[in-house]
Amino acid sequence: MNTTIFDFIGDTTGEWKVTLMVALKGESIEPVSHIKRVSSSLILSNEGIWSLKGIVSNLRYTEKEDKEKLLAIQEDLGRPEATLAAFIPIRKSEAWWNLAQDERRKIMENKSQHTQIGMKYLPAIARKLFHSRDIGEPFDFLTWFEYAPADAAAFEDLLAALRKTEEWNYVDREIDIRLIKM
Ligand code: HEM
Repeated sequence: MNTTIFDFIGDTTGEWKVTLMVALKGESIEPVSHIKRVSSSLILSNEGIWSLKGIVSNLRYTEKEDKEKLLAIQEDLGRPEATLAAFIPIRKSEAWWNLAQDERRKIMENKSQHTQIGMKYLPAIARKLFHSRDIGEPFDFLTWFEYAPADAAAFEDLLAALRKTEEWNYVDREIDIRLIKM
């Protein structure tokens, strides 16, 4: 068992039931009725209808002050009241990856205020980012969010705000999958 590598398995059974699945940008993925997240390894999984692999990694762009703020207020996944989730695999364009690290940070944080915007929704929304780009996966990132039904509207506001930013001009594939805990 590995605590940093996870498979997200789309199947006909699983801990989370799919309530909505929309390809917002780029190619869609095969519809599934359930998704589960399991601790895994770098070995490809052949479980389920599809599986996507992601790794919990170090921060790339977050500076000390924000890191400390995040650590102080963010919640973990798995809160019993957080019965709703969103699984949003994202790929960014070659133009994004051709930028230098400081240029990417400028777009994400100075121009798009990604962390600034996101922070307003903590601790209600619990989040976890998984990296996939360097392991030959179809998406660059797998993002997972958990929240209580009372915070569902706030989560929509957060998504609307982020999707309007300059950073999102570089997103070339995004699948929005919503889930409810079984
Ligand atoms: C819940 C509030 C949120 C907070 C506090 C937040 C915060 C952050 C932070 C601090 C990073 C940078 C990590 C680093 O330094 O490497 C990040 C990255 C990222 N976030 Fe968010 N985020 C939030 C919501 C979202 C949402 C709703 C989405 C997707 C729809 C999203 C997608 C991403 C992606 C794809 C990255 C990686 C970007 C890259 O490295 O190019 N985030 N987030």
